[in-house]
Amino acid sequence: MLIKHLDKLNPDRKLRKILIPLCGKTLDMKWLAEQGLVTVGVEGVQQALDEFFSEAGLDKSETSITGLGSYGKLFQSKDGMIKLYCGDMLQFSSSFEGTFDAIWDRGSLVALDRSDVPRYAQILKDLLNVGGRLLVEVMGYDLDSMSGQ
Ligand SMILES: C[S@@+](CC[C@H](N)C(=O)[O-])C[C@H]1O[C@@H](n2cnc3c(N)ncnc32)[C@H](O)[C@@H]1O
Repeated sequence: MLIKHLDKLNPDRKLRKILIPLCGKTLDMKWLAEQGLVTVGVEGVQQALDEFFSEAGLDKSETSITGLGSYGKLFQSKDGMIKLYCGDMLQFSSSFEGTFDAIWDRGSLVALDRSDVPRYAQILKDLLNVGGRLLVEVMGYDLDSMSGQ
């Protein structure tokens, strides 16, 4: 899906940095870095980030950080192209990595509590530069078919 729609995120091919909120261990991050983009991810579960680096075959450095909850850490690939924050996305802001021209969001809306979604949306808006682009992959389903499950 990312390959199919990357032109919408990067129409003039000038993009240099991208944010992946709630990144999990998606291999999209390795692919984006290989395209020359500094790839910044934010994920709450450290195991996912450990597995990302090990499955991608990349060495990482680790730094403790404050401001993302009690377990805040930054993991970076040796070449600095992949920077993954372990902490609460609902506390992430431009004070960490500035603002972005592009955000790739896959699977966050199903992972967050519904009551946190408006706050999350505002955080993404604040992180996006004027004219920046946000690509969101969502799932559509019939709510009634899920009732009682
Ligand atoms: C459905 S997964 C999607 C992962 C990834 N975007 C992908 O496409 O494979 C959602 C991820 O969000 C993380 N997550 C949920 N709430 C979070 C929060 N407040 N801050 C950071 N990560 C969070 C979960 O740990 C999980 O890895």
